[in-house]
Amino acid sequence: HMEQQQAAFGKQQEKIAHLQKFIDRFKAKASKAKQAQSRVKALERMEKVAPLLAEADFTFEFKEPGNIPNPMLSISNASFGYRMEDAAPRTILRGVNRSVLAGQRIGILGANGQGKSTLVKTIAREMGAIAGTVTEGKGLNIGYFAQQELDVLRPQDTPLEHMVRMARDLGAAAKEPTGEQALRGFLGSFNFNGDMVKQAVGTMSGGEKARLVLAMMVWQRPNLLLLDEPTNHLDLATREALAMALNEFEGTLMLVSHDRALLRSVCDEFWMVGRGAVTDFDGDLDDYQRYLLDEAKRQREEAKEAVRKTASDAAAPAIAIPAPAPAPVAPLQVPTVERTEASAGAGRDQRRLGAQERQQRAEQEKPLKREIARIDERLSAIGTEKAGLEQRLAQRLPAAEIADVGKRLKALAAEVERLEERWLALSDQLETLAA
Ligand SMILES: Nc1ncnc2c1ncn2[C@@H]1O[C@H](COP(=O)(O)OP(=O)(O)O)[C@@H](O)[C@H]1O
Ligand SMILES: [Mg+2]
Repeated sequence: HMEQQQAAFGKQQEKIAHLQKFIDRFKAKASKAKQAQSRVKALERMEKVAPLLAEADFTFEFKEPGNIPNPMLSISNASFGYRMEDAAPRTILRGVNRSVLAGQRIGILGANGQGKSTLVKTIAREMGAIAGTVTEGKGLNIGYFAQQELDVLRPQDTPLEHMVRMARDLGAAAKEPTGEQALRGFLGSFNFNGDMVKQAVGTMSGGEKARLVLAMMVWQRPNLLLLDEPTNHLDLATREALAMALNEFEGTLMLVSHDRALLRSVCDEFWMVGRGAVTDFDGDLDDYQRYLLDEAKRQREEAKEAVRKTASDAAAPAIAIPAPAPAPVAPLQVPTVERTEASAGAGRDQRRLGAQERQQRAEQEKPLKREIARIDERLSAIGTEKAGLEQRLAQRLPAAEIADVGKRLKALAAEVERLEERWLALSDQLETLAA
């Protein structure tokens, strides 16, 4: 019992020491940098990482990636998309002109279905560009991590067998020791201990498989990481370990994620994928939240417009073909009928009904609006508390206190996320009422 407690204490101390080292390293790095801006960025990043580390069950790190070509990649006049059998290719992105330079940390933003995965898959060589060129720097070594990558695992094989095969396939290109003991040790650093290295992958959970794929990627020491929504299938501990490792990663990084906390902690610049193009995103991540809201609204309106159009088209021919509803939308608008003398009375009734409906709607809106106001208030209170905590973090604090502040910041971030989600749902409901 005592021993257990002591072990837990020791582990915590170890973690705090690691955290302190990490912060010192970042501070040293930041003070070497000329621009004050990068110092601010480093501090911001540190603030995000402190809570992650304080609670992490295990950690891993990417090894130094060695030489990094610069530019790593240049894309010119390219179109990306899918080649279809017996049909014209389906182009998703056009006019892509981008370079990826050594050391860049790029967050890829964009609403669902806009082509983020298409972009990343093409860069990862999963498919070719439809037009234009993608030129790779000499020595480019890509590590790609995405949902479908879990399919590369062989269900009958064990983690150790996967590692052995990968080591063999890489041959002389391997940068890590390839002996079985070394591979076991490496797997251990990813929480594959004891019997687990000998367990068939097919019997493992999604999170465990994802952890194995991640381990295999790290082992190859990539200098360009392409991560497409990496946290979706990771358990909490691995997610935090990944966030930590990404922070320390010295290579180049492109990350697609909906996790704003992760984007904020890991990326310095952002690309926006939307409406068929890839552009710079100049705003911050709060602007991005607003953008997503606007985009969702625009898409809803487009869907509504499409329904309206099919409704009025359908009014003309004798046989109306039911249109597939693109999304949950407002009820069909009945084409207005020109009012005649005879229908004037009915019009008055309709107007009265309209007033009643408006009254009813206002009643329905009230609680929604009230809750939105409450959320806004809470968000602004959180903002104030967060600013205070961040200021404290910027000072020299005892490590234990840093961990406390970090934990609180993390709790606040989680609350903000919940509130924002609720806020979105409420504004959605409001809009549906107004439609
Ligand atoms: N294998 C495929 N064949 C044809 N079209 C595809 C394929 N995969 C995705 N798409 C289409 O490409 C568009 C962009 O998808 P995707 O890159 O997955 O978007 P995002 O990652 O931004 O959500 C979508 O309209 C999607 O339907
Ligand atoms: Mg995607």
